[in-house]
Amino acid sequence: SRNIRLAVIPGDGIGVEVVAEGLKVLEAVGTKVETTTYDLGAKRYHETGETLPDVVLEELRGYDAILLGAVGDPSVPPGVLERDLLLKLRFRLDHYVNLRPVKLFPGVETPLGGVRPEDIDMIVVREGTEGPYAGAGGVMRHGTPHEIATQESLNTAFGVERVVRYAFDKALSRPRRRLTLVHKTNVLTYAGDLWARTVERVGREYPDVQTDYCHVDAASMFFVNQPGRFDVIVTDNLFGDILTDIGAAIAGGIGLAASGNVNPDRTAPSMFEPVHGSAPDIAGQGKADPTATILSVAMLLDHLGLDSEAARVEQAVADDLVERATGRAGRTTREIGDDITARVAG
Ligand code: NAD
Ligand code: IPM
Ligand code: MN
Repeated sequence: SRNIRLAVIPGDGIGVEVVAEGLKVLEAVGTKVETTTYDLGAKRYHETGETLPDVVLEELRGYDAILLGAVGDPSVPPGVLERDLLLKLRFRLDHYVNLRPVKLFPGVETPLGGVRPEDIDMIVVREGTEGPYAGAGGVMRHGTPHEIATQESLNTAFGVERVVRYAFDKALSRPRRRLTLVHKTNVLTYAGDLWARTVERVGREYPDVQTDYCHVDAASMFFVNQPGRFDVIVTDNLFGDILTDIGAAIAGGIGLAASGNVNPDRTAPSMFEPVHGSAPDIAGQGKADPTATILSVAMLLDHLGLDSEAARVEQAVADDLVERATGRAGRTTREIGDDITARVAG
């Protein structure tokens, strides 16, 4: 079978702990993997001032995929690692689809009452290279009572159309064939109008996909009280960020939420990572749940065309989650990783 060339960026805090378990599972799959680890993150920043040097970025282009843990540390000002490392990777590698499944596995506890796994099975297609994350901004009269801070949302016809097309294709591949645009067209009239017109126009090419629209505030409510409304969601970068943390919460917690930063045109490697961050509050204690990272590894395998390997990893997680429900609680990060690894190997 083929050899996967994988770049690994464990990053900060629990990123290091969960990535170790993700790699264990990947090894157990049996596909040949050649990994190279990159020490990007808080430590390198403190030692050298570097976040993501251009030479490293160019080197990363040579891999089949990237596995990332998390970045961000209380000792580094907010935004430095998040923007100059993580977002720089997403932007420069053109990860215009940030794919975030929201799926309730059997046996997993949810804070919602009376929902079954079939009621929470959606996928959020979050735009990854534009929106408020990429817009111009600045500050005037900094630190004075008259300070003015601006932060614009950048939306291009090209950028919106490509992610919308991806979302329609995704919807077409799923049994329910439903696509919901989530935005705030009643207030963000310029950007919202571009998104709405794009969905309408592209939608004419997808007569078999049923589309609808939901404002982001209402969508947040429906995630909690009617999650079954949603199949595929397409949305702006920031709305998608917030909605997918709600999605994580309703589907059993942030420790289970996986994601892929996908470059569908394959002009650069895609990058897979848990939705969660570096969790400084529990870092170094073996308390982090590695499941989100392991499910991100399944998404990585799927992206590389290793469908049956991906399915095996997902099934191993599903089985482990059922067992958790029947009493195997309180395991460490490593114990959960070992148990899932054993199932994959087994
Ligand atoms: P966070 O996701 O790191 O933590 C939020 C809460 O969830 C914490 O209580 C944490 O202990 C818990 N948690 C997170 N992952 C968990 C896991 N696998 N198992 C068990 N509990 C888990 O979000 P935050 O606290 O807002 O951010 C911390 C840092 O991480 C910040 O620097 C932030 O910028 C960064 N961050 C990075 C990424 C990323 O690299 N993709 C994502 C989100 C946040
Ligand atoms: C995520 C994170 C990132 C985001 C931050 C750390 C830049 O919250 O991956 O969800 O906002 O996209
Ligand atoms: Mn987030």
